Amino acid sequence: MQDFITRLPKAELHLHIEGSLEPELMFSLAERNGIALPYASVEEVRAAYQFDDLQSFLDLYYQGMGVLRTSEDFFDLAMDYFRRASAEGVLHVELHFDPQPHLARGIELEAVIEGLARACRLAQRELDLSTALIMAFVRDRPAEDAMQVLERAAPYWEMLDAIGLDSAEHGHPPEKFVEVFERARALGIARVAHAGEEGPPAYIEQALDLLDVCRIDHGVRCLEDSALVERLREEKMPLTVCPLSNVKLKVVERIEDHPLPQLLDAGLLLTINSDDPAYFGGGMRANFLACQRAFGWTETTLLRLARNAIEVAFMDEARRHELL
Ligand code: HPA
Ligand code: ZN
Repeated sequence: MQDFITRLPKAELHLHIEGSLEPELMFSLAERNGIALPYASVEEVRAAYQFDDLQSFLDLYYQGMGVLRTSEDFFDLAMDYFRRASAEGVLHVELHFDPQPHLARGIELEAVIEGLARACRLAQRELDLSTALIMAFVRDRPAEDAMQVLERAAPYWEMLDAIGLDSAEHGHPPEKFVEVFERARALGIARVAHAGEEGPPAYIEQALDLLDVCRIDHGVRCLEDSALVERLREEKMPLTVCPLSNVKLKVVERIEDHPLPQLLDAGLLLTINSDDPAYFGGGMRANFLACQRAFGWTETTLLRLARNAIEVAFMDEARRHELL
């Protein structure tokens, strides 16, 4: 089964590139940039990755990304992940990146985007891995900041496949970002948003009604509202589910308690993703394998889930045809 999962043509639609920063690379970038880490060893970093909820993870995630300073660092970060993902049989990666915490540390947007974009071009050439870029706004900062970042990204609008919305969900409903998402829509940029990870089903509804998103990141709490589930099914709205993330952040207690089987029974368009693989215990293969073991999924189910991602990915039709 492990071989079948590795060979399965996989597309990853929900990945925070800053969350792919493995402790080894964290140490080498810290050294390169003369940054002191609050850890003595790689093992100590890994041992610190015990989370109670989304916020306790975000605290370490924002701290960890502090080692990223130059365009080269962002390039190395992305290439490091692309090589690992490619070795697991991932053929397409859509990466969220969070400009705001980098800008707040005095890193230029150019360094972030140009480093990532250079890695994307090399991945295509060297690994036959296609990619898409999703510029995410952190929802626990003011909407005005997000709007400023969107305007500042004008030289890169053409390169963005979508904008996204992430970070602490409680108390930061999608409606806060209506104007930013309206602006992106006017610019012809696609929109996705995290909703219903820790937040209530109403946030999923808002993301659909007010932000006009083409998919929902996480979305697992939709099950608390049967009318919403029916709507998501009718609209064939993709959910980018992240099983190991949900266990690590205690959205569910154990993988066996994950609502994926109910979501599948409800006829929803689901995809499997890793979210922040360096923090949550593995990449795409580990996520597929954990689900297969917990739910006894057949090859047919695994294939269906992998194909779903390819069908709704931001990729040109020639590439989609090649992967399907
Ligand atoms: N949820 C919300 N925001 C995030 C996450 C996540 O899992 N990872 C990085 N930013
Ligand atoms: Zn996420």
